[in-house]
Amino acid sequence: MTTARTIPVWKNADDLSKWFVTDLDSHALDVVVVGAGIAGLSAALCLLREGRKVVVIDKEGIGAGETLRTSAHLSNALDDRYYRLARQHGDDGARLAAASHAAAIDWIEAVVEASGKDCGFARVPGYLFAHDRDASNLEKEVEAANAASLSATLLQAGDALPASFGPVVRFERQAVVDVGRYIQVLAAEVREAGGRFLRAEIVDIKGGSPCTISLRNGELKAKTVVAATNVPVHETGATYMKQAAYRSYVVSGDAPADLPDALIWDDADPYHYIRKYVDEDGVAKIIVGGEDHKTGQDDDPEAYVRLQAWTREHFPGSTHFTHGWSGQIIEPVDGLAFIGRDPDHENVYLVTGDSGNGLTHGTLAALLIADIAQGRDNPWEALYDPSRKPVRSAGEWIRENANAALQFRDWVRPADVDDPERIPLGTGAVLRRGAHRIACYRSGDGRLHTYNARCPHMGCVVRWSGEEKSWDCPCHGSRFDGESGAILNGPTSEPLAPMELDPR
Ligand SMILES: Cc1cc2nc3c(=O)[nH]c(=O)nc-3n(C[C@H](O)[C@H](O)[C@H](O)COP(=O)(O)OP(=O)(O)OC[C@H]3O[C@@H](n4cnc5c(N)ncnc54)[C@H](O)[C@@H]3O)c2cc1C
Ligand code: FES
Repeated sequence: MTTARTIPVWKNADDLSKWFVTDLDSHALDVVVVGAGIAGLSAALCLLREGRKVVVIDKEGIGAGETLRTSAHLSNALDDRYYRLARQHGDDGARLAAASHAAAIDWIEAVVEASGKDCGFARVPGYLFAHDRDASNLEKEVEAANAASLSATLLQAGDALPASFGPVVRFERQAVVDVGRYIQVLAAEVREAGGRFLRAEIVDIKGGSPCTISLRNGELKAKTVVAATNVPVHETGATYMKQAAYRSYVVSGDAPADLPDALIWDDADPYHYIRKYVDEDGVAKIIVGGEDHKTGQDDDPEAYVRLQAWTREHFPGSTHFTHGWSGQIIEPVDGLAFIGRDPDHENVYLVTGDSGNGLTHGTLAALLIADIAQGRDNPWEALYDPSRKPVRSAGEWIRENANAALQFRDWVRPADVDDPERIPLGTGAVLRRGAHRIACYRSGDGRLHTYNARCPHMGCVVRWSGEEKSWDCPCHGSRFDGESGAILNGPTSEPLAPMELDPR
């Protein structure tokens, strides 16, 4: 099971599950990295290169989380705009953010080059356009990006993209990668450097000397733990109030002949992100993402239809769509990920708050955590510190928490339906039985799968997502499989509890 049913264009060409063991000879370890996504594998490789002994734990396998659900833009022209980052983190903070994401792209390039493998890595320019052709925000961004040491230029309409896009900002030295091929190279490097892989589900981590890692079945001890599960599933108060989970949607199909080799994105809210990709048969594809909404709120299967329509309008010639998928993005309230020491747990390191720049956030996290864990100073440490208080983003911080608190009103709302017979095949609905809410999914074969609708994380009522056939929590983004109730996305560390639907 991955985190969703929809199928992205990226895949693990080789089955690497054979590298995973299900038990270890010793349960006293040096470094445990939890999560075999881009963040965990990069951290594992950096720590192995420091001479540490590393075990990577994943409950699913290589890249099975959000990493294979990305659109794989590698960019230091960050989504949150430099004029905002400078306001939130100061001019030095914006400069460090730009430098750290550039370092991440360089690191990925170096790993690809050293492997000698074709990972679809290429340096390309990035183009930002205004969704309403109003250049004023673009002008602000050029100024702020150049102040942060990027190379950004405002181009007139028609100079880079068709004139209908209006003026665009051009950013130099961005990049693309085929993340399916890259993640395999990264995993192979980890293995070659002596890293081991354990298939297991962790349910908690406690800091200390040593740390304790509680598994669904068993326990491990380690001197150092890197929690790279995309959102922490162990008990830590460090981040969940400072970030929010969103679903983002992607479609892909045959590329129009004039699609440039570039990253392209707009400034709409939610914004669109576009790139070209050449598949294994040498066919050029367009990848277009957008239509983001908060997880568990405003779920809408029409998102794909709207994305396709938007793509046809802006890139005429994109007629035949072959793929559509969705994934989870964790948006930090101040635009930058939370990376570094877990303030609640000694010798535990966090990587979360990936935002739409999670491939570079995940990679720079590895460089930063390796420095901190090895006792070296790193100039990015304070910027990404998970314990930072986003005081200059207080408005956003309050809004996100008020939004989460509001979702508890589902406990006093009427149920979706009264009678389970009214739930069509392939659909879910929440029913009320006394004080309980019951999440009922009727699978295609007519069977009813019933669970306590109370999210095990902090007690919100889950909502049905027709698009991914999952139960999604509107409070902090935990997601559960409709049929089995299994965890698809944290922060929950427990699945939905089965619950009988008593006859009334
Ligand atoms: C639609 C979409 C488009 C995106 N586009 C871009 C883009 O263009 N550029 C960009 O930079 N970023 C992009 N991102 C973000 C980026 O893809 C992610 O931020 C990044 O892949 C996250 O990597 P990760 O290693 O932190 O997490 P993941 O890849 O989710 O890895 C976490 C791993 O932890 C494992 N795990 C979780 N819980 C447990 C547990 N309890 N026990 C054991 N293992 C566990 C999972 O199985 C998983 O393998 C996009 C994301 C989405 C969804
Ligand atoms: S994710 Fe926090 S209550 Fe559900």
